[in-house]
Amino acid sequence: MEKLKSFKPLNLFEYEQLATECLSQMALDYYASGAWDEITLRDNRAAFERLKFRPRVLVDVSDRNLATKILDQPLQIPLLIAPMAFQCLANPQGEVATAKAAADAGVGMLLSTLSTKSIEEVAAVCPDTNLHAPQWFQLYIHKDRGLTRALVERAYAAGYKALCITVDAPILGRRERDKRNEFALPPGLQLANLTNLSGLNIPHEEGESGLFTYVAGQLDPAVTWDDLEWFQSLCPLPLVLKGILRGDDAARAVECGVKAIVVSNHGGRQLDGAIASLDALAEVVDAVGDRAEVLLDGGIRRGTDILKALALGAKAVLVGRPVLWGLAVAGEAGVAHVIEILRDELDVAMALSGCASLEKIDSSLLFCEKHHFA
Ligand code: GLV
Repeated sequence: MEKLKSFKPLNLFEYEQLATECLSQMALDYYASGAWDEITLRDNRAAFERLKFRPRVLVDVSDRNLATKILDQPLQIPLLIAPMAFQCLANPQGEVATAKAAADAGVGMLLSTLSTKSIEEVAAVCPDTNLHAPQWFQLYIHKDRGLTRALVERAYAAGYKALCITVDAPILGRRERDKRNEFALPPGLQLANLTNLSGLNIPHEEGESGLFTYVAGQLDPAVTWDDLEWFQSLCPLPLVLKGILRGDDAARAVECGVKAIVVSNHGGRQLDGAIASLDALAEVVDAVGDRAEVLLDGGIRRGTDILKALALGAKAVLVGRPVLWGLAVAGEAGVAHVIEILRDELDVAMALSGCASLEKIDSSLLFCEKHHFA
């Protein structure tokens, strides 16, 4: 909070800069890093910078509406908070502070399996009504299927509105900064959904990232399409798959009954050299058609980025790291401000491109060679 009083960031990049002064080196590196050479991490941003607009003029944009629905659930802006582990590394209120800010702004939130506040603590923040922006639960499939089932049942009972399975992490990508730091949860922090239930936690290990070891030991790298039926049988929540970068995988997901797909490369943290999520979006949207909803994460830092993703066919976007920067700088108020900045920027970008509502956003807003030479 003190940081916010002395310097109020104007944009998400300034939040990132300020957050570097608020976080331990281990936490900062864990949040910021990508896999290996961080090529994909950088390309997530570069892909947005490569894409340009063809704004429309002389459109009445005096009355603008940014509201939408995802899986029939309301959002005040086409934005959800990405699932991110260990948010108490940024602020003692962790995921609870994030959830409060999201709920107040009418923004959706995905809670990570690896959260430092429990499924129930986070759900308590959000009124369990269909009129409210939803909370979804992100699931990592543990080898212990009884444990996996228990997590899903708790999320359903607590009022989460979708089950989002991360499918790009059969093992953890190699984040060398975490290996160097021997990443582990500091004393006092634990896996709020798992430690009490199973005794599992993120171990300290010499020369290794404790999270890498956790994932290698506990998560199931043998999960396939055949398992989707079992996940679907666990509860009536719609299934969302996160981490798809190909049209054929997206089409297969839809054939298996998946209701929404998050085009994502896990913030550049899994396979380095994978394409930017923005570059995968059009192919996935094409493959899915109107059979499921498509979301995108990876590299969203400006309202113009949201506009670009929507123009390419995403229904909404997920934002990750900037929320952690807001949380580190000023807890709930910082997250609220990050959301407000994105909302304002999207609003301005829509006005300046001739779109009074989200329905008016389409691919003709984007520049491509065809238009250049026409
Ligand atoms: C956890 O999900 C991570 O990718 O670090």
